[in-house]
Amino acid sequence: MCGIVGYVGKKSVVDILTDGLEQLEYRGYDSSGIAVMCKDDIKVYKAVGKLKNLREELKGHENEFASSTMGIGHIRWATHGAPTVLNAHPHTCNCGNLVIVHNGIIENYKELKENLIKLGCIFRSETDTEVVAHLVARKYSQCNDLTEAVRLASKDIEGAYALCVMHNDCKQKLVITKRNAPLVVGVGLNEFYAASDVPAIIKHTNKAVYLSDNQIATLTPEKMELIDGDGNKIEPKAEILPWEPVALSKMGYKHFMLKEIHEQPDVIRNILVGRLHAPDENVVLDEVKLTKETLKNLNRIQIIACGTSLHAAMIGKYLIESFCGIAVDVEASSEYIYRKTVTDEHTLVIGVSQSGETADTLTAIKQSKAKGSHILIITNRPDSAMAREADSLIPVSAGIEVSVAATKSYVAQLMAFYLLALYMAEIKESMAVSDLTSLKAELMILPQKIEQILAHKDDIQRVAKCYANTKDFIYIARGINYPTALEGALKLKEISYINATGYPAGELKHGPIAMLDETMPVLSILMNGSVYEKLLSNSEEAKARNARMIALTNSKDEKLNDLFENIIRVPDVQELFSPIIAMIPLQLIAYYIAEFLGKDVDQPRNLAKSVTVE
Ligand code: F6R
Repeated sequence: MCGIVGYVGKKSVVDILTDGLEQLEYRGYDSSGIAVMCKDDIKVYKAVGKLKNLREELKGHENEFASSTMGIGHIRWATHGAPTVLNAHPHTCNCGNLVIVHNGIIENYKELKENLIKLGCIFRSETDTEVVAHLVARKYSQCNDLTEAVRLASKDIEGAYALCVMHNDCKQKLVITKRNAPLVVGVGLNEFYAASDVPAIIKHTNKAVYLSDNQIATLTPEKMELIDGDGNKIEPKAEILPWEPVALSKMGYKHFMLKEIHEQPDVIRNILVGRLHAPDENVVLDEVKLTKETLKNLNRIQIIACGTSLHAAMIGKYLIESFCGIAVDVEASSEYIYRKTVTDEHTLVIGVSQSGETADTLTAIKQSKAKGSHILIITNRPDSAMAREADSLIPVSAGIEVSVAATKSYVAQLMAFYLLALYMAEIKESMAVSDLTSLKAELMILPQKIEQILAHKDDIQRVAKCYANTKDFIYIARGINYPTALEGALKLKEISYINATGYPAGELKHGPIAMLDETMPVLSILMNGSVYEKLLSNSEEAKARNARMIALTNSKDEKLNDLFENIIRVPDVQELFSPIIAMIPLQLIAYYIAEFLGKDVDQPRNLAKSVTVE
């Protein structure tokens, strides 16, 4: 996590840095800071908390940096050391001539620090980053070349990093490098930008160079020089970024989350383009590079993911198993990587990640790749580290998701699983053609159904407000919607801080039912289908313990009015597609409760959008 930016060119740098950091706030917001090459020397400005505090801090200093055209900036998600000004980046060496910003974790920082202290370095922060500032400065004092100093220092560093470095001796030079952390260079006319992610630069340029691990770029207004970790020259390859600057605007919505919820019908339409033309035509999924023969004989799939993506994966398992009869295991990446797994070259491994940068999932993918598995990545970021590990890549094309709470990327991931499961079922001939046709027909009209729900969002807001002051919240469901209950609860807890939990309803009586009394809201995801009656009984059991019952349902059953104090009705849909239809009101409930409570919806406390630490 953390976000870094850098700029060297002819324009006034401070606004470029602060605007860039604002676009990276989703990566963390514990503190921020910039270092700017001023007339005589580098000046550093820092503040604790959100970026607006740094903007305040900068007020009154305008004369110092009015003509500055080079600088670096950082927004922090604290790992080593509390969110204080001392721990905020940029960090400097002893004499302050060298400044550095860093995203990632230096794993061997303790031993590096001990050695550097012995050599006379004085540490002012508790961060792992500061060792890099001292280390590069020492190398610089030996070789007098900033690029070489960074290259030599990176040989001593273990862990993950993206770094931007400046030195008082080099008035128009930035040196940047990375390993296991994202870093992109934006290419302008007589100017270069560096950033952890595209949103920080897309307003200025759509031409970019992605650095590979261990590469070091030296940026001056005129040119970008690239070398590998051994010092060999490399020709930088620029590509055109697919992002539109407009994607970063709220477009009149109060929060990005609300905007992104409303984008979901179009997200579904987008992912279907070119892949599903008509219900009676086969799904086209050229992105899957496994041969038809291999797919036919496949008997095991392992899906790995974290958080919301893990919930999408759980539904993916349900779909693949029921459409194709292939056994699927789903595991949180953070668990998967620390045990002996039986993944091998006969297992298809699917990694699911909105950002494509989540450290645990990336490590899990690399581990399975080393064991010979075919790696299929489902991600919203075809330009991410995970995408680069992929043998097969399904980009979900949800457009950039700014709000920390994932919404549209989740629905897009589900769509990828529907297409994949249908595609494999067609190849394996594991379902009747008439069933496939009916499923595809329904898939194609999901956007209209979501639009119907969004048209009645005021009703959902009204229900949500009834529960805004509760301390706890339980979501129950069964079958394919059990992960929907988990995801609904996750959405609520992460943005409202209400203690929300999702349960498979059949498990209530094995413990959680003890929690129920007249203060506890229980939301039952009661969708027509194979487990409807069972879930209804479980809801009765909860009602018998006086819980405040809410139904989210597509049933027209009048009896429900007696059982539930509030009912949110959604359009009818085949059970297999109910996770998409049910999710929209759950996102809205979480949103409206958090908004009603005045929480920071798009940037909830302690979270970051891209979790690049294990
Ligand atoms: C919740 C949320 C997180 C992410 C998780 C994995 O709204 O966004 O739970 O889903 O951190 O991130 P990705 O999908 O980028 O791997």
